[in-house]
This record gives sequence, structure tokens and C-alpha cells, in this order.
Amino acid sequence: MKVDIDILSFRSSLLRWFRRSARPLPWRNTYDPYHVWLSEVMLQQTQMERGVTYFNRWLLRFPDIESVAEATSSEILKYWEGLGYYARGRNLHKAAQLLMVKYNGELPRNYDELLQLPGIGPYTAAAVASIAFNQDIPVVDANVERVFARLFDIDRPLKGKGVHAGIVNMAEKLLPSGEARKFNQALMDLGGLICTPRNPDCAVCPVASHCEAYQGNFVEDRPIKKAKQPLIEIEMATGLLLHQGHIFIQQRHDNDIWGGLWEFPGGRLKSEESPEKAVKREYREETGFTVEICSKVTTVVHFYTKYRVILHCFRCRLNQESNLPDLKAAQAYHWVKEDQLDHYGFPAGHRKYIDYVRQTCPHILTSEC
Ligand code: ADE
Repeated sequence: MKVDIDILSFRSSLLRWFRRSARPLPWRNTYDPYHVWLSEVMLQQTQMERGVTYFNRWLLRFPDIESVAEATSSEILKYWEGLGYYARGRNLHKAAQLLMVKYNGELPRNYDELLQLPGIGPYTAAAVASIAFNQDIPVVDANVERVFARLFDIDRPLKGKGVHAGIVNMAEKLLPSGEARKFNQALMDLGGLICTPRNPDCAVCPVASHCEAYQGNFVEDRPIKKAKQPLIEIEMATGLLLHQGHIFIQQRHDNDIWGGLWEFPGGRLKSEESPEKAVKREYREETGFTVEICSKVTTVVHFYTKYRVILHCFRCRLNQESNLPDLKAAQAYHWVKEDQLDHYGFPAGHRKYIDYVRQTCPHILTSEC
């Protein structure tokens, strides 16, 4: 993989385009390091538009690093709800607390020091160092990888061994000293706006004259696509338990998947097990409660990167005197009123269940079965 273009001409074409066409993203007003860090963490695995919505909402509640550090983990996850990959939110929280203790509530400028913070890997450290502090460090995200695959006719899958490192190396050679903030973001915007995965708009690309794939008319063949793995299907069941006007929710252990989020008890179906049996069993195992199933309410389907989860959603009642659980799969529980459900962060499938109930049968949140 070699940089075999007129570098000076490439840089000036790209930067000229960025001056005219940069997206008006909110952190580009001030380049406040906290804003840049937050945006980079939120945008991993997240579409730009969605990321910007969460970014703006987050800053209204957490205007600075100190406010993040002082929040409870439950509130952090509530503001992260729906973004997925919740470890990002938990790590942001931990990092904010560390920044208060060690760096007076500010982000360090140094790449190696950034790398020491929870949740900050080579990508985020490079993005913060270059975008917030304008240091000469290249940033290579999925957009930039695709741009490079086309510009330099990379004929190997991007996930292949050494390919990412090779692209970082090339990006380093292209980077104009003192211009990293603009240059890195220009490459990202080029990938997000013009050199898109499907139907790239080469007719208006500022660097088409440098692009091997465009010149050779094989843009659609780069990057090389790997065969897609089929999604793994997972079947789960859960039950909404209402008792004396209150709904039972429990908080998952921090180190679990969806750690720190709240849920109605439930879990994965065993082989040959019916969803109803699974709910009763899960209640017994996770809380010690004996419950009766009243009715099936809906089935929710949610897609994750590798999984398709089918969640069978039931309504149930307590079939015993005591309402005190013996928690086995959770760190905390609350019996909450219907209108308090929005104060808690739930995994996407559970949130879909709550939304469905609110829209179609809200009485099941307040009257027992
Ligand atoms: N994707 C992640 N960070 C970005 C940024 N600063 N500009 C454009 N796209 C991005």
C-alpha cells in the first residue's frame, strides 16, 4: 500500500472543499475538548444524525466534565439509552471521575495520556488529540478507510491483517503539518457526504482526479466486501409484573451485557421451552418470585450487530404474599409507578415493549390482571 499521488495538490483540493462544505456539526463551533471527546465516543457505531441528537440532549444535562463525574451511573445510562454499546457510557462516566481527580476536570493534550483513560483507544485518542488540540496525528475511522480503499485501490478486505495499520501509515504521510483538525475531519466528511458506501457522488468529489478507483472505473468494487455473516437468532421472554399499583424492575449487574440498565425479569428460552415457562422459570431463578402468566402482550424484534433478538412479552401477576425479591441476577430492584418508568434506562427490546404498551394497552401498567 503506497501513497502514489501528488500530495500537495491532494491536500489543497481537499481542504478547499472542506472550507466550503464542512458539515455544521455542533462541536465544530468551539472545539471544546469535552465536546470533541463526547462526540467521538457517541459517534462510534452510530449514525451522524442520531449521534448529534444524543450529543445535544446530553450537553443540556451534562454541560461539563464535572457534571458527568457527579451523576449516578443510572442517570448516565438513562441519557445513553437507545445508543447501544453501553460500555461507552459507563467508561465516559469513569473517565470523567478520573479527570476530576487527576487533571482538574480537563482532558490531557497528550496522546499517550489520553490512551490511559477508560474507553479511550487509539482511535479516540487520535481524534481528540488532533481535532480538539490540532496535533499532527492521523485519524482513521470507517469513512476514512473507505476513502483510502478507493483512492489507493486497496485490493484486500479492510478487516484483513495489517490493512488498517497500512492506512494509518498512508494517512500520516498525507497529513499536512499544523492542519490535522481540518484535514482529518475533511477526510471523514468526504466519506460521510460524497465517498459513501453506496452510490458515491464521484462527479462532485474534490479529489476524483487523484482516485485510482475512479480513474479505473471500479469505485463500486472498493472496498472489497467480505461475505456477510448471517445474524444469530436469539429467542427471549420477559414479563411485566404489576402488584398493588407498582411495577417490578431490576438493575442488571455492572459487568453483564446491558450492565447497569434496568429490566423486567426474563431471559433466554431453553431448548424446547415455551416462552411462558421461560418467564415463570426466570422469575423464580432471578427473584424467587412465583408468578402466574395472565396474557401474551406482544412480540418485539430487535436487531443488534450480530444478533436478531425475538422478545416474547407477557403480563403477569404475583402468586405469593411477599413482594420482597431474593435478587440473584441483579444489583438492585424497585417497585415503580407507571410514570416513573421513563426515569430508568432500559435495553432497546424492553423500551420497545414499554412503548408498545403505552400506545396500545396502557391500562396494563395500572390495573392488575
Ligand atoms: N465521525 C466521527 N467524528 C467525526 C468528525 N469530527 N467529523 C466528521 N465525522 C466524524
